[in-house]
Amino acid sequence: MSLRNLIKPGMGLVAAGLVIGALGFWGTQNVLHATSSDAFCMTCHSNHSLKDEVMASAHGNNAMGITVQCQDCHLPPGQIDYLVRKIIVSKDIIGYLTIDGFNTQEWLDENRKQQADLALKYFRSNDSISCRTCHTNVYENQPEAMSKMAKRMHTRNFEKAAEDRKTCVDCHKGVAHPYPR
Ligand code: HEC
Ligand code: HEC
Ligand code: HEC
Ligand code: HEC
Repeated sequence: MSLRNLIKPGMGLVAAGLVIGALGFWGTQNVLHATSSDAFCMTCHSNHSLKDEVMASAHGNNAMGITVQCQDCHLPPGQIDYLVRKIIVSKDIIGYLTIDGFNTQEWLDENRKQQADLALKYFRSNDSISCRTCHTNVYENQPEAMSKMAKRMHTRNFEKAAEDRKTCVDCHKGVAHPYPR
């Protein structure tokens, strides 16, 4: 019997409360930095292929030698938003303690579609802000080197009224992990 099985959901809540409280109390730059590395994400997702997938994608395997970190995509850049999102992520402590077999590749394989759609919902809720923070010239001042097809699709999208525009992840799924069909 694993330690996780011994921890009752009620205790999980208490543990989560303590951690959320601690995060709030020590909500300093240092703590934010410590919790903002790939290593932090991978403490709970350690048996998931997520990091390898990034390294195999254009976001880890490109001619520039840039590795995009989990939080560069999954957390927004502004400080306040950043903290709010952190606390939401820390709700995952409850999930970590209570979801049967969570930190196994089998669980990720089986739940990939549902988890991907949850992640996409978040990107849609903030108009893919993290993507736009790096990819600043998609719509305006498009680089010479951008493919014709990309220029045409981006321009056409940008010409629409703001509320009718698609967001990055509506057209670009699976940029870091294989998106399940
Ligand atoms: C405390 C453990 C824990 C940590 C730390 C953690 N996760 Fe998770 N994560 C989970 C659990 C559990 C789920 C499944 C949640 C569910 O379905 O209820 C999950 C799901 C996700 C999902 C898909 C669902 C969604 O809501 O978007 C993404 C994306 C994700 N994690 C990214 C990250 C990133 C990025 C980090 C680092 C900043 C991180 N996780 C750190 C436990 C954790
Ligand atoms: C930290 C900066 C950074 C962030 C954040 C980022 N990207 Fe990228 N992106 C890059 C780099 C670097 C490349 C590789 C460029 C190359 O190889 O020419 C790239 C390549 C791409 C490509 C072309 C290659 C492919 O996979 O088709 C697309 C499309 C793309 N990114 C979309 C996105 C989307 C959508 C998001 C948000 C979910 C995002 N990017 C977030 C830096 C970033
Ligand atoms: C209406 C659909 C659509 C939207 C919205 C969209 N793209 Fe694209 N994008 C495309 C198509 C089509 C291509 C060309 C084919 C490909 O590379 O997938 C492309 C290509 C790219 C490329 C590669 C450029 C090249 O020359 O190959 C990057 C990087 C990129 N998009 C980033 C983004 C980002 C970031 C956003 C959000 C700000 C975004 N796109 C929004 C459709 C879209
Ligand atoms: C370039 C941006 C980018 C990077 C870097 C990135 N992700 Fe994601 N992630 C996404 C997007 C976009 C989705 C939504 C599903 C999709 O389009 O594939 C997603 C989905 C997920 C999911 C839901 C399951 C799935 O595969 O769809 C988890 C969990 C997750 N990411 C965790 C991580 C972790 C952990 C890291 C760092 C090792 C990371 N991501 C790095 C953009 C990124």
